[in-house]
Amino acid sequence: MNKKTLPILAGSVILTGLGVYLYASKVEARNYKLETVRVTTYGASGGGSSSGNGNHDENYEKKIFRILHLSDTHLSEPETDKLRFLEEVTDGDFDFVVLTGDVFENYTGLKYASSLLSRKPKLGAYAVLGNHDYYNYSFFNKIVGRINRKWRHPMEYRDVNPMINAMRNNGWDVLLNESRTHAEGVHVVGVDYPGIEPDELTRLVHQSPDGYLKLALFHMPRFLHTFVNAGVDFALGGHTHGGQIRVPGVGALITDSELSRKEASGLIYRGNTVFHISRGLSADPRSNFRLFCPPAATIIEVVHKPHAPHPDHDFVSMDTLRQTSFVD
Ligand SMILES: [Fe+2]
Repeated sequence: MNKKTLPILAGSVILTGLGVYLYASKVEARNYKLETVRVTTYGASGGGSSSGNGNHDENYEKKIFRILHLSDTHLSEPETDKLRFLEEVTDGDFDFVVLTGDVFENYTGLKYASSLLSRKPKLGAYAVLGNHDYYNYSFFNKIVGRINRKWRHPMEYRDVNPMINAMRNNGWDVLLNESRTHAEGVHVVGVDYPGIEPDELTRLVHQSPDGYLKLALFHMPRFLHTFVNAGVDFALGGHTHGGQIRVPGVGALITDSELSRKEASGLIYRGNTVFHISRGLSADPRSNFRLFCPPAATIIEVVHKPHAPHPDHDFVSMDTLRQTSFVD
């Protein structure tokens, strides 16, 4: 290597890195997608005594619900294109719009709460809060906390009442370890970020009338087996941002949760429960960059067949699913 080669090589590496960073933060992080998936849920498990005996026509009492899943909006001043996307997608015709946490990055984002919902959904707009709603993260937390988990979060929660009030004033029902039942055949349970005792989650899910679709909302994918054991049919969460940086063929570099690299977003099957993990629409503004992982909102068509048995291939023993690697 001659004397001229090294500076040229170093310059090329720096320019390439800068180009990738600019693309990831200025282009892909703002390339909002609206995606559609379809989910089928079968029979009751846990939450009620489904007949599930196969004597019913598979389509008998089949119900279809249209859900818009939003997550990780991380609102903070200034916002522009994200608000336009939110206003557009929430103007659609939905049974539910759900928002699974990290709604606000800080109090400056409260002024944008009115852009989170353009039209009232037929059955309800439900939200749960996430760790960025509860914590005011410093650079110290973000950098040192990656090395030593002791410093991962600030010492105290911040007051989330301004967030809850802003949401409620704009048509949202913020669920703080609570449930709601709709006579149309849906029971919704919302898990607050600080968590919930498994017995309490089971109690809330079991308030569902027999045969109703049992939905659960949560922010951080942790202890997913508790949703399975409680008998939830379909659970929606966020937090991972899909990993933000994904390597084709490998998956997310980090999932920041108990999920594997290939499970950082999309549909996941555990026991008789289906999970949808959203890639979310944003991130902490200090680290909002994405590669092969554009931000997304998802329209989910849920077909609930309360009297159809679960297909055998969907069942996996919980013994093989229980994971212990996650620590928040
Ligand atoms: Fe987030």
